[in-house]
Amino acid sequence: MTVLYDNIGELVTNDPTQGDHSPLGILTDAALLVDNGQIAWVGPAAEAPAADQRVDCGHAAVIPGFVDSHAHLVFDGDRAAEFAARMAGQPYDGGGIATTVSATRNATDDVLAANVARLGQELRDAGVTTFETKSGYGLTVDDEARSLRVATGFTTETTFLGAHVVPAEYASRRDEYVELVRTTMLEACAPHARWIDVFCDRGAFNVDEARAILTAGIARGLQPRLHASQLGRGDGIKLAVELDAASVDHCTYATDEDIDALAGSSTVATLLPGAEFSTRAQWPNGRRFLDAGATVALATDCNPGSSYTTSMALCIALAVRDMRLTPAEALWAATAGGAAALRRNDIGALHPGQRADFVQLHAPTYLHLAYRPGVNLIAHTVVAGQGHPDHGTPAPDC
Ligand code: NIG
Ligand code: FE
Repeated sequence: MTVLYDNIGELVTNDPTQGDHSPLGILTDAALLVDNGQIAWVGPAAEAPAADQRVDCGHAAVIPGFVDSHAHLVFDGDRAAEFAARMAGQPYDGGGIATTVSATRNATDDVLAANVARLGQELRDAGVTTFETKSGYGLTVDDEARSLRVATGFTTETTFLGAHVVPAEYASRRDEYVELVRTTMLEACAPHARWIDVFCDRGAFNVDEARAILTAGIARGLQPRLHASQLGRGDGIKLAVELDAASVDHCTYATDEDIDALAGSSTVATLLPGAEFSTRAQWPNGRRFLDAGATVALATDCNPGSSYTTSMALCIALAVRDMRLTPAEALWAATAGGAAALRRNDIGALHPGQRADFVQLHAPTYLHLAYRPGVNLIAHTVVAGQGHPDHGTPAPDC
């Protein structure tokens, strides 16, 4: 069954061989053919091939689906009061993670699954076609393992984050907790995870602890990614490069040396503007990363503490306004950049062979994502060719 998405005013392909030959590969007056859930053809509408069905996109803009490569969706509870306190001057130091750990440990599996389903639907409605999610609010062997079991019901991009913080019961025995994470907890969690992550920062884990945990995870078959330099300078970014992590996330306090290390590596710098916004932190200068030649991704970091948003469009607007990315760089970072941060080559662009994941906007151009902040511009989110309400319109004879 082939479906032609026709009458696209502006089509962003992320394929520089297309259209304007920019990194976004923009075509105007375009069409897109989907065959069995995959992109089969893109090009000028006037040259579109015949199809079994035709969907009229009303001359709107169509973009690749957002790839949210960093989220924490397995939790219970809410920390709105903590947010209000921050806006009244309290700093963010990650201390509130304990509040969510306590609520999550007390929640049933069904409650945790309902939370992931709710936020997963929000992400979908906001144009996200692939999302990653982590454990990290259980911090016992059983609670971490069940968090990941729950997560696997919603995404294949699951990350073991037993090293989020040292839980209160291990406060005076942190070495024992590190040992637990890299042995028994890892064993219980690895069957349900693709990735392993550590919060390597002030008040969480130091670089030696992070290295010990990540190398144990790698030996167990997981791939590394890292939270680093969110709360202050440190050696986490260099560690991510040393271990060829797929991504190092936050990078708020990245130094020139860190950025040079990233630029010479295949580790993606994932910037999380929702976190700087919600913790009133300083903005990392995304321009520095791009000018140095590093690959940049944008993600929501959706979590109940530092960034309770599912809006990639908001992240794009903030990255443009406050991290100095151009709108084109921000859109690339939120789509192809996210795919690179997950080391995926089947998503993040619209060219033949890719999964047919795309978004029709309520806008004539992708520029509106940053130009019209706070406005819901997501008309339809299509995943593997499914989800457009007009899908099923018979194709005219052609
Ligand atoms: O990525 N930085 C560590 N973890 C989360 C926040 C966790 C929380 O505050 O609940 C983050 O921002
Ligand atoms: Fe995070």
